[in-house]
Amino acid sequence: MMHLILADSELEINPWNRKELLDSSIHHRIMEKNRMAKRQGRPDITHFFLIVAMESLLNKYGLLRVYVHTRNDEVIYIAPETRIIKNYNRFKGLILQLFEKKKVPFDNPLLVLENKSLKELIDELKGKKILFTRRGRKVEIKKLHEIMEEDVICIIGGFSSGYFLTKGIENMVDDIISIYDGMLPAWTVAMEAIAAYERFKF
Ligand SMILES: C[S@@+](CC[C@H](N)C(=O)[O-])C[C@H]1O[C@@H](n2cnc3c(N)ncnc32)[C@H](O)[C@@H]1O
Repeated sequence: MMHLILADSELEINPWNRKELLDSSIHHRIMEKNRMAKRQGRPDITHFFLIVAMESLLNKYGLLRVYVHTRNDEVIYIAPETRIIKNYNRFKGLILQLFEKKKVPFDNPLLVLENKSLKELIDELKGKKILFTRRGRKVEIKKLHEIMEEDVICIIGGFSSGYFLTKGIENMVDDIISIYDGMLPAWTVAMEAIAAYERFKF
């Protein structure tokens, strides 16, 4: 099984209007005025990441579990059969509902939100823990499948700039790897990790 975690994701409610998510492409002025970090308010990263992960062959074969951990230490558990809404505004509406109700749909939940740190999430999963970051040891993409094991936990940052907010994240994992000299978006790294595990597995 591959467990895929989007960590320290910039996903939160807009503190000035709790009826919407913070989105830096819309709220950049008020964020700047209040000296909020530029990296905050990026639900688009989670959206792209979830579309790539949930529609992968690995997920269709039942070998993938996906989690979104947020900057405020919440964890979203995503049922493998979840079909991610393609429309961005409707996706944001769904996540807002999740923040409010903790489960969506409420009766037969596909998404469940719990207050939990990244460490707590990692501790409840079984497998080799691999942290993806440019600061890691270089692994050539053609050899990425060689570091996979039957059970793996792959951790990718859900932010656009800076580093993981979770303190001591390097000490929570078994391997820290870089797959490219430059910076890649989270969904590209997710795609490569999934493809490598597929090569290992099939
Ligand atoms: C847009 S980056 C975050 C920005 C950060 N300054 C960086 O370069 O990693 C999003 C995430 O993708 C992963 N990532 C980006 N580039 C990578 C690379 N070359 N190798 C491995 N992981 C990478 C990391 O997990 C990172 O947190």
